[in-house]
Amino acid sequence: MEKINLAVVGVTGMVGRTFLKVLEERNLPIENFYAFASARSAGSEITFNGKNYTVIELTETSFDEHKIDIALFSAGGGTSLKFAPLAAKSGCIVIDNSSAWRMDENTPLVVPEVNAEDIRNHNGIIANPNCSTIQAVVALNPLHQAYDIKRVVYTTFQAVSGAGMNGYTDLEEGLKGNSPKKFPHQIAGNCLPHIDVFLENGYTKEEEKMIAETRKIMHAPELKITATAVRVPVFNSHSESINVEFNKNFELEELVKNLEAADGLIIQDDVNNNIYPLALNASGKDEVFVGRIRRDESVESGVNLWVVADNIRKGAATNAVQIAQWIIENL
Ligand code: A2P
Repeated sequence: MEKINLAVVGVTGMVGRTFLKVLEERNLPIENFYAFASARSAGSEITFNGKNYTVIELTETSFDEHKIDIALFSAGGGTSLKFAPLAAKSGCIVIDNSSAWRMDENTPLVVPEVNAEDIRNHNGIIANPNCSTIQAVVALNPLHQAYDIKRVVYTTFQAVSGAGMNGYTDLEEGLKGNSPKKFPHQIAGNCLPHIDVFLENGYTKEEEKMIAETRKIMHAPELKITATAVRVPVFNSHSESINVEFNKNFELEELVKNLEAADGLIIQDDVNNNIYPLALNASGKDEVFVGRIRRDESVESGVNLWVVADNIRKGAATNAVQIAQWIIENL
């Protein structure tokens, strides 16, 4: 397999560091590697595949100065908005973890287990979805294929690592009694029904992202979805309660078999032995875990699921690296 030149933008961040781990684990065929961040950390050193690299400041000419085939971006929306088009112009394919390009109609939004083929339509940028959306659609897509989803109600329980290094520090410091710097309220011992900014309709942008991105990834623009996104005092891995209503009827046993057969999903559902997905167990794993699978007895055809995944791995870094692997193998 031909080797590629690969860059990570935001290499010092929470997701950036995990990019490095997942790239090492999956042994991508990399010839030259470039580590970018802002001027703040330029000059510092990172280790990748046993070699030390100096962190380089990302500038407008970075992608002209180096020939880069694939760049994994996780350095915030502003950085992606400005630098991803410059990278794409130089012939690089950007896999962008920010929300900047996700809803752009010329940018595919991809979860490989669901819509890998959309990658073929890229124009130099491929968007990595929101962490909460990724784990949800891995579980929902096989059910949509089988039973035609009518409506989805999302309630999320999201870890502080989703808010980056500063979010993580807020929980650590909060547990020692110190005031928050990232979140608007103390997160230790608390639940904040507030992730990202509030919109005019009363939803948060996080909730809006889950709704719009689910429709785009599953090619279901009319799907009825509502969401409540909650930040909880958990360090890592998002948990979600997902209520799904179908147009078609189903047998519960067969529905479970459909989930078992789906790519990237692991069923943990043995309530007699207290077995169900847990954030602590999902952390460090690449799969999405599903349990508490039970019929919603309040509607004609519906089910409740408890879905947990490592938001920094499958919800961000792993999904982006899977997209890179697909590109290397197929394009
Ligand atoms: P830096 O360490 O130089 O600030 P997190 O979301 O975990 O806080 O990480 C954000 C990542 O994005 C960091 O690696 C940070 O680098 C990087 N970053 C922020 N702003 C820029 C920028 N303008 N150009 C390049 N990287 C940036």
